[in-house]
Amino acid sequence: MPILDAHTLEFFSRSPEQTRRVGMRLGGLLQSGDVVCLQGDLGAGKTTLVQGLAQGWGSLDPVSSPTFIIVNVYRRPDDGQLFHMDAYRLESAPEAAELDLDEMLAQGSVLVEWPELIREILPEQHMWISFEYVAEENRQMLIKAKGARYDALLTELRQDLYGGD
Ligand SMILES: Nc1ncnc2c1ncn2[C@@H]1O[C@H](COP(=O)(O)OP(=O)(O)OP(=O)(O)O)[C@@H](O)[C@H]1O
Ligand SMILES: [Mg+2]
Repeated sequence: MPILDAHTLEFFSRSPEQTRRVGMRLGGLLQSGDVVCLQGDLGAGKTTLVQGLAQGWGSLDPVSSPTFIIVNVYRRPDDGQLFHMDAYRLESAPEAAELDLDEMLAQGSVLVEWPELIREILPEQHMWISFEYVAEENRQMLIKAKGARYDALLTELRQDLYGGD
């Protein structure tokens, strides 16, 4: 199993479907208060992963790109909420500060596309997934845990994806 260090998992996805399946596994493990940051160029696969994440989490709502409205909220029958933020259109940090991330985290889990644009308001502990284009249908994902909660989440994800230990 490819492990770069104890806090990082490297995964090569060979198709959008495979990326969605990884997202489903991670989505099924998310708890309220979790933050997952998704970094990568345009078309890298961030929203594709979110489609799986939302499905695995149990969303009743379909995923769409929140590029114009900045945050989408997906719901679950148990009233759980999953926030999907796209920081690409945020032009300044003051505007970012108006996004009440703490309030979102009190109510559910948060997924952030283009997190590097709002670094100053992100919690120090988080999951950070970076996508690299390898080839037409191939993407490298580096999944990095920052903090104890995310180490535990990464361990569970590794177990789900590969079994064994
Ligand atoms: N292995 C793969 N994983 C994810 N997407 C893939 C893969 N192979 C090809 N693709 C394609 O790459 C594109 C990824 O688009 P997506 O909207 O997920 O990117 P994004 O990172 O959210 O971009 P943006 O910054 O514009 O929001 C889709 O057209 C998808 O079908
Ligand atoms: Mg996107």
